[in-house]
Amino acid sequence: MTDNAFGLRPAIVVAYHSGFGHTATLAAAVVAGAGARGADVTALAVDALTEEHWAMLDGADAIVFGTATYMGNVSAGFQAFAERTGRRCQNGTWRDKVAAGFTNSGSKSGDKLNTLVSLAVFAAQHHMHWVNLGLGPGWNSSAGSEHDPNRLGFWLGAGAQTDVDADADAVHPSDLRTCEHLGGRVAVTTAQLLAGRAAVQAIPAV
Ligand SMILES: Cc1cc2nc3c(=O)[nH]c(=O)nc-3n(C[C@H](O)[C@H](O)[C@H](O)COP(=O)(O)O)c2cc1C
Repeated sequence: MTDNAFGLRPAIVVAYHSGFGHTATLAAAVVAGAGARGADVTALAVDALTEEHWAMLDGADAIVFGTATYMGNVSAGFQAFAERTGRRCQNGTWRDKVAAGFTNSGSKSGDKLNTLVSLAVFAAQHHMHWVNLGLGPGWNSSAGSEHDPNRLGFWLGAGAQTDVDADADAVHPSDLRTCEHLGGRVAVTTAQLLAGRAAVQAIPAV
């Protein structure tokens, strides 16, 4: 399906770090959601980037950052990647790309809001446009349940929780749907931005 209403296919990279595979499963859900909304989307593990992968990052219209929460923040693997982007940050290589983020932790909270804040600050340092989750909070009334989308009630990005002894593919279905939503929202928002830029360029100068 290519359904972003603009006939555009934004190029999106999901750049993630996952030590044990849980966050990688969520990255696949972000990919599915973005693909369903008409994006050309690829997931890249940031601890195994080739030169070709860096070129994909540099050429993307949007980058969705994902990381496991370790010690209440992004993982060391993600931070090593972030620090490798220092020159790009200085040069504005990723300026005005769209950005968004997701994280996964073992505890329901696990201090992972701090991880999303770190991802948003990282994007801001690159002068990227941060897209929030765009879902109301789930599981917050007597009518709600853990199967609601956004069951953990985040606004800044997608926050997921996986039991520390669970297999990599045993992430919660609600968290998968939430990450799919985030991918779709980034695809549509990026298409809107690209369409807007094209329209502005089409206006003749006076
Ligand atoms: C070094 C380390 C630190 C962790 N710190 C936290 C934490 O601060 N909060 C939390 O809820 N879970 C924490 N966890 C649990 C992980 O977030 C959880 O196992 C997650 O599913 C791992 O994702 P991954 O498989 O993508 O690496 C930590 C795990 C490790 C290995």
